[in-house]
Amino acid sequence: MNNRRKFLNRSLLGLATMSFSKSFAAPKVKKKPIVISTWDSGIPVNEAAMEVLKNTNGRALDAVEKGANNIEDTINCCVGLGGNPDREGRVTLDASIMDDKMNCGGVAFMENIKHPISVARKVMEDTPHVLLVGDGARQFAIEKGFVAEPDVLSKDAQKAYDNWLKKSEYKPVKNIELQQNKAFQKGSGPFAPQMLENGDFNHDTMALLALDNSGNLSGACTTSGMGFKMRGRVGDSPIIGAGLYVDNEVGACTSSGQGEEVVRIAGSHLVVEFMRQGKSPEMACKMAIERLVKINPKKAKEEFQVGFIALNKYGEYGAFAINPGFVFSVTTAPGNGKVIKAKSYFN
Ligand code: GLY
Repeated sequence: MNNRRKFLNRSLLGLATMSFSKSFAAPKVKKKPIVISTWDSGIPVNEAAMEVLKNTNGRALDAVEKGANNIEDTINCCVGLGGNPDREGRVTLDASIMDDKMNCGGVAFMENIKHPISVARKVMEDTPHVLLVGDGARQFAIEKGFVAEPDVLSKDAQKAYDNWLKKSEYKPVKNIELQQNKAFQKGSGPFAPQMLENGDFNHDTMALLALDNSGNLSGACTTSGMGFKMRGRVGDSPIIGAGLYVDNEVGACTSSGQGEEVVRIAGSHLVVEFMRQGKSPEMACKMAIERLVKINPKKAKEEFQVGFIALNKYGEYGAFAINPGFVFSVTTAPGNGKVIKAKSYFN
């Protein structure tokens, strides 16, 4: 091939690559503002976020923080100081937040602070770091003006802990997992989700993603983690790339369920990368779940649940889970929140 032809071929290839990489910037109908969150308990969370998003200049970042704060103020098994404790009877909190400019922050294994998501935001905005843990995170929060709350379990958490204590045993990890999974299948015990009578899960990690009127994305994820976990255990929620990832050029993803499995595949980052390749949010979530199931299909079917939710730059959304029972909430205007059942790998 002569030089001129080589040059032309390269130029054409360059143009094709440019148009492909710019495909995410192509003008499309945008559904905005929009907020999506994990579980049916996401409805009031979305509503709180929408209070910010309904304003022309409302920022997705403020919206996801406000949404997460909303559930951190309630008593439930899986988020905030009212959540289920670890094996020592202490509630330890994980949270992360990420904005439209690749800024991110998180806290893990933090005690006594009511709003871990807001501490995560302070880590993002006021420190050169992305993750603070344990006493260091609490100390930082107090320096930033957060109040240290007393070590008191909520009534529900105390009851759940007393129940768990009746059979509590330290076992090697595999046995701990089996013990947890039996309880999980019955819908109670150390796993975070609570099962409703019809077999649907009530809620687990609260994770939400928002697209604001300016077309910017942000995400937040907050949890007390797996109930009755080993002391010091940290899940996926505070780990950027695992429990949460936002790329403003493409989309955002977050997760709920067994954090160890999500960390193993850097789940949320993987979903965003699939969207970058042009996959729809639901297909991207499905492909990440397939990656996860492939590791050990039997275990995935019988022993745990993971669900991803994703939102792309155009306001298109989707979700996918390993097992049935995962639901998510979608809100596009004040008061119009709806709960959607996610498809799953196993039926
Ligand atoms: N997905 C929450 C956790 O595993 O802690």
